[in-house]
This record gives sequence, C-alpha cells and structure tokens, in this order.
Amino acid sequence: MKKTVRDIDVEGKRVLARVDFNVPLDGGKVADDTRIRAALPTINYLREHGARVILISHLGRPKGVDDSLRMNPVAERLSQLLGGGVMKLDDCVGPEVEARLAELPAGGVALLENSRFHPEEKANDPEFAAALARLADIFVNDAFGAAHRAHASTAGVARDLPAVAGFLVEAELKKLSRLIEDPYHPFVIILGGVKISDKIGVIDRFLDFADAILIGGAMCFGFLKAKGIDVGASKVEEEAIAVAAAALEKAENSKCRLILPKDVVLADAFREDADTIINTVDNIPAGWMGLDIGPAASMEFVREIAVARTIFWNGPMGAFEMEPFSAGTRTVAEAVASASALTVAGGGDTVAALNKFGLAGRLDHVSTGGGAAMEFLEGKELPGIAVLEEA
Ligand code: 3PG
Repeated sequence: MKKTVRDIDVEGKRVLARVDFNVPLDGGKVADDTRIRAALPTINYLREHGARVILISHLGRPKGVDDSLRMNPVAERLSQLLGGGVMKLDDCVGPEVEARLAELPAGGVALLENSRFHPEEKANDPEFAAALARLADIFVNDAFGAAHRAHASTAGVARDLPAVAGFLVEAELKKLSRLIEDPYHPFVIILGGVKISDKIGVIDRFLDFADAILIGGAMCFGFLKAKGIDVGASKVEEEAIAVAAAALEKAENSKCRLILPKDVVLADAFREDADTIINTVDNIPAGWMGLDIGPAASMEFVREIAVARTIFWNGPMGAFEMEPFSAGTRTVAEAVASASALTVAGGGDTVAALNKFGLAGRLDHVSTGGGAAMEFLEGKELPGIAVLEEA
C-alpha cells in the first residue's frame, strides 16, 4: 500500500502533482477530456485542503519545443472544469517559473508547460528533476497513464521530495489488482490492436491463470501466420511471429484457451469505400487484407464473454473508426458492457471505441492507462509507483 494525499498534511504547502494530461487535440482544442476529469478528485482535494497546486504533464512526443503541443488547450479545458483560475506557465523550470509560482495563493492551481519540451525529462536527468523538485514541498503522482515511464517528472523528482499517490493512481492500482489477485472465473481476456509485441507479456502471464484469451485486431494475423495460414495482404508484425508461435505452443499445454477468429472481414484496400468480403481465415485471397473479425468470430467471442465472471479488454477488434470494419469491435463492446462480470478495459483505442459506442459508463473500470495498465498486469514494477512512499 502506498501513501496517498490523505496521509500527509498539505495545508499551505506547494504540491507538485504529476498528472497525465496527454489528451487528444483537435483544431487546438481538447478532443477528449477524460484524463483531465480523472485528475479532478486529487486537484479538488488538494485545493480544499489549502495546498498550492502545481500541475505538470507531458503532451504528445515532441522533440524540443513544439508550439502545437503547448498545454494551453489543456489549461483552457481545466479552467472550465474548475470554474476558472488556472495559472498557465510557459515553461516548467527556471527562475521565471519560480517567480510566478511564488504568487500562487493557497487553493490556487498552476499548470506548467509540457515537460517533454526538455529532453532531460525523458532522460530522467537528475539536475532537471532537482529543478522540478525546487518548485514544491511535496510530490504527488496521479499520472497513472505515465507511471510506466522512468522520467524526471514521474520518478526522478521523488528523490528530493516526499512522494505520495493521488486518488486516480490509488483507484487504478486497486481496480487493476483485482484482475491478478484471485479473480473470479471464468476469466476472459480480450486483446486486439495492431502489435503483438505490446500484448505478449500479458498473454504469457495470463495463459497461466485466465480461462480464455480472445485475439482480434490486426495482431491476430501474426498468430494465424505463425500457424502457417496465408493471410494475404493483412498487416503482420513479422518480428513478432516467433513470439506468437511460442505463445501458441504454451497455450497447447495450458488450461487457458487462446482463441483466434474463425472468419474475418476482408477488404481490397485500407479505405472506408473498399470492396469487402467475409471469408474464413483459411481462405484469404491474395491481395486482400483483414480489417475486422467476421460474424462467426464475433459470435464465438460473445459466447465466451457471456459466461465470463471477470473480463479484461485491451485493443479493438478491427479498424472500427471506419464504419464497414466496426461491427466486430461494437459487438464485443456491447457484450462486455452487458456481461454479468467484473469488467475492466484499458488502452486509448479501446476507450475511444467504448466512447464512440456510448458504452464506457457500463464497465466497472475503464483505465486511463494503456501501456501502464498492460505493464502492471504483466507484473512489471512501474517506476512512477515504485518511488512513492509506503503507508
Ligand atoms: C499514454 O498516453 O499512454 C501515456 O500518456 C504515456 O505516453 P507515452 O507513451 O508517450 O509515454
């Protein structure tokens, strides 16, 4: 158990809170504010308890200063959510920042500039971390989505400051832990998306204690290819075929079933208006690519989901952002939302799909972390969590 903001006295203190405001932007506006809303309980608690709240986050993957990735749209949205009064700064370290922050009153909120404008952030440079630590008396990590990064603002800064968890980090750890600590069975994992390499750690671990792993999305073609099936022009992560083959072999000797789609929606181009056909996976014509799981696969997945008592889902079943290839993801999302099970989902695309279909509110937990949730479930230590004080 990690200490949280409840375990320390924050009154009158300068609190540096790492949040994950890495949100999608569209036309200079925040397109999805889920991650901003998710940090509000911690921000409000700190304000109500008289702290001076200094927020820091990364946004995107800039190489140096990039005007299109400034935190201004985030500050604007945050101000709306808080009812005004966010002090937006144009850097995250240095004398000017320190001077402005000296004016921040108790209960006030400041938002620093994108931490990744400084390459020292990702390098976890000790001097940069010390410059961040000088801004505050206490460090709070509420950036679950970035907790798998050993960066200056997620980990390094904790060398010089007392460090505790925010409410979002606390809630994520509690909810995700339920998947690994004595989950109810049948336990069904649904994985999709493009890359096998992002998911293989979870597949490997859960083959030991889940009951079924359902695989859709482009990653299924690497598994099919590993079984010797010709997948036509479907996207395949060639480097990962060997690990896919190893997972299939492990599954042979496991009580957990690794289930691949029996049929797929095929297209002659990666376009919304492409010609499409539905075929079994052993009958993919040359030049055609799979862009969704087929109806028979969807039905098989729905049957598995319907009897599950614990479900974890990460990764869409197809190119759901294009209508002709959205049925598999929609069917799975609806089945998960209606299941009589503990339901947990994570990952940016999965959350986008749940939002698109208006189903996010029907799951028990939608994680704000993609990579962070996967690494936690793999059993890896998250650097942003490891640095926090034990309760
Ligand atoms: C995310 O969106 O998964 C987190 O904010 C981490 O972002 P990163 O993958 O760029 O480190």
